[in-house]
Parts: sequence; structure tokens; C-alpha cells
Amino acid sequence: MNKIAFNYSNSFVKKHEIKHMESLVHTSHELLHKKIGAGREFTGWINLPKNYNKEEYQKIKNSASRIRENSDVFIIIGIGGSYLGARACIEALNHNFYNAVSKDKRGGPEIYYVGNNISSSYILDLLDLFEDKDITINIISKSGTTTEPAIAFRLLKEYMENKYGKEESKERIYVTTDRSKGALRSLTEKEGYTSFIIPDDIGGRYSILTSVGLLPIAVSGIDIDMLMKGALEGMNEYSIDDIDRNICYQYALIRNILYNKGKDIEILINYEPYLHYFSEWWKQLYGESEGKDNKGIYPASANFTTDLHSLGQLIQDGKRNLFETIIHIEKPKKDMRIREDKDNLDGLNFLAGKTIDFVNKKAFEGTLIAHTKGQVPNLVINVPEMNEYYFGKLIYFFQKACAISGYILGVNPFNQPGVEEYKKNMFRLLGKPNV
Ligand code: PA5
Repeated sequence: MNKIAFNYSNSFVKKHEIKHMESLVHTSHELLHKKIGAGREFTGWINLPKNYNKEEYQKIKNSASRIRENSDVFIIIGIGGSYLGARACIEALNHNFYNAVSKDKRGGPEIYYVGNNISSSYILDLLDLFEDKDITINIISKSGTTTEPAIAFRLLKEYMENKYGKEESKERIYVTTDRSKGALRSLTEKEGYTSFIIPDDIGGRYSILTSVGLLPIAVSGIDIDMLMKGALEGMNEYSIDDIDRNICYQYALIRNILYNKGKDIEILINYEPYLHYFSEWWKQLYGESEGKDNKGIYPASANFTTDLHSLGQLIQDGKRNLFETIIHIEKPKKDMRIREDKDNLDGLNFLAGKTIDFVNKKAFEGTLIAHTKGQVPNLVINVPEMNEYYFGKLIYFFQKACAISGYILGVNPFNQPGVEEYKKNMFRLLGKPNV
């Protein structure tokens, strides 16, 4: 297997700047691996690719096969870390138009997401899709009390009980939550639903390789063994406390060096639409982990070449406070050649014989040259191809880099005190008792 590579030759960061900050990486490594840093009680994800609960894992696989057999539609209810990882993986590794292709081609049920907003139109429009279809639901919430998924679950539970009756609904509702705390756990015990446990020492945004991500991912037909294998190799490779040999630590440090030079916006770039939700997952991971104590790089994203026609001008020529991190997929999943056209009315014969992906790569190279000329530091993460193995490894890469980067920045990368503020206000306005 070729390795994921990291190229910072266009970052404008000099070797001596790395040397100067290197000791901080070492300190952060110690804080994380010796579990003596802030938020240490939420670092169970570090060894998860090796130490995962094998019984729970088998139960995930069995449940996924059952759901694939008896469902036309699978609905994932969750918000933030409780759905973004699964969605990122399902979209990156399946057909670009997964829900629209035939079940034969897809293999698994159609997949929809709800409980990640409070839009009445969204929920009601979604219910219109299911009339003649067999449905299974997976509600995912670590706290078991988050408003958005709780409301969606109340509505869908009622919908399921009307459609199937109480008994059959029990076979079609799967719950992923804390082992003992929260309203969702007590409801689950009362109703007798099949349930999965989110480990105490793993926070939402680091939970994709637990049942939070793995059940939905397996339902879509993705090989979770390969995903875990990639993550395990990531775990081994990115635990080396030597910045010259650890690209994950290089990325963590360089983004901090850039931040210290006033680059406080990082744009994660892809050239494949199937990575859109990967960026959403990444934004949540970095935003919630680092944005605190009046510090933090603003994590933004752009889908190229699409957004070169909307954000391209600003990136090229606007305020010089940003840098780009490009996820570059070397080998496309599919490709085709552009053929010669005898009339050449569109003037495209200069591309005859070239593949579409070749053109995409030239767009990447051309943009890199242009943006670097515009003084935008460009970091490139080169992924040999997009499959289960590399996805698992990439997930681990970014999680580990986020934790190290957060410690370099001097924040607790595992809490999210700011998220509570809007909830308190909303509850007060809604008249919730005891807020
Ligand atoms: O990463 C986090 O901790 C958060 O984004 C949570 O995942 C999100 O708020 C949902 O919380 P819960 O799983 O408790 O419903």
C-alpha cells in the first residue's frame, strides 16, 4: 500500500520555524499519550482501532446485515459528532448518487439523515418519501438529551408505531447512546430496543470508529474491517514522536505556525464532490476542538472546481489571512476519455484522448500555482485512492492532528463549553422547566 503523503513545500514555512516550535509537538505528544493533558478523560479514541469492543463490533455487523435485508430505507437521527462521521464515510465511499441508483447497484437501503436541524419542512418533506417503503431507524445521541435528534425521534417513533405497530417497531428501531445516562437510555430500556453503547471516554466528534459511525457505515455496505485496518495503520504510523517521520504532527505544527503568522482561516479543499461531507466532518472536528479561549483557526471548506467560480476570487486576491489544505486523491474511482469530435464546434479537441481526471488534476496544479503566487500557503495531503482503507487512515490522521494541534494551541481539544450557550437561551425562550 502506498502511504498518505503530506507536502508543505508551498506553505512558505521555513525549516528553522519548524525547528523552533518542534519541542511543542513533543510536549503535546506526551500530554496526549501519557493522558496527562486537558480533557484526558476523553482520549479513548487514541487506541480504539486496536482496543475496540469486539463483541459490540460483531453485534454491529449482525445488525447491519439484518437492516440491509429487511429495509428499503435507513434513517439516521443525530447531530454534530453523532452523524457527520457516518455521513462523510457513506458519501465518500459509495456511489455519488447512492439513493438514486437501483437497489441492485446500491446493495443497501436508501439512507436519509434527520435530527440535524429543526426545520419543520425538512422533516415533513422527508416523511413523504417513505410511504410504501420498509424503514429502519438509528437514533444516535451520546447525551441522549440533545433537542434536535430528540424531537425527530419522537416524531419518527410515532410514525413507525402507526406504520408497523408497537411490536414490529421495536425490531426496526436501533439506539446508539451512553451505557447508563440520559433520557434516551431509559426510554430504550423501557421499550426494549436493540442498543449500542458509546464509550464514556470518547466524545462525539472523535466517535466515528465506534458504533456511532460503524453501524450506519456498515448498513450502506462499506467494509468496516478495512476501515478499521486503515485506522490501525494510522494509529501506528502517526504515534511516532518524531516530526521528521510523522506527517500528522507536521500538519498539526505547520497549521499553528501559519496561525501565528496571522493565517487564521484554513480552507479544506477537495476536487471530488463525494468529499463534501468529509469537509463538514472535519470542520466540526477542528472548530469544536480548537475554537475556545478566544483562540482558534476558523475551519472553512470549498469544493473545487465548483467553488473556484464563487470563492476563487477571494482566495486569489482577498485579505491574506487564509491558507488552504488540499485533499488530493491520486487515483480516481472511475475515469473516461474525452473523444475527438470531427466538427470541433466546442473547440475542445485539444483535450481529445485525455481523461476527465487528467483535466481535474491540471485544474488542481494550475490552482496551486495561482494561489501560491497570490501568497496563499498551500498544504497538500496526497491520498493514493479513496477506499475503506485510506478513509480509515485519513480519519485517524485528522483526529490525531487535531488533538496535537489543540495542545500546541494551548486549549482543551476535547470539550465544547461554548455549545451550551445557545441551548440555554433557546430553552429559556421555550419555557423549559429548571433551565
Ligand atoms: O462532538 C460533539 O461532542 C458534539 O458535536 C455532539 O456530537 C453533538 O452535540 C451531539 O450530541 P449528542 O450525541 O449528545 O446528541
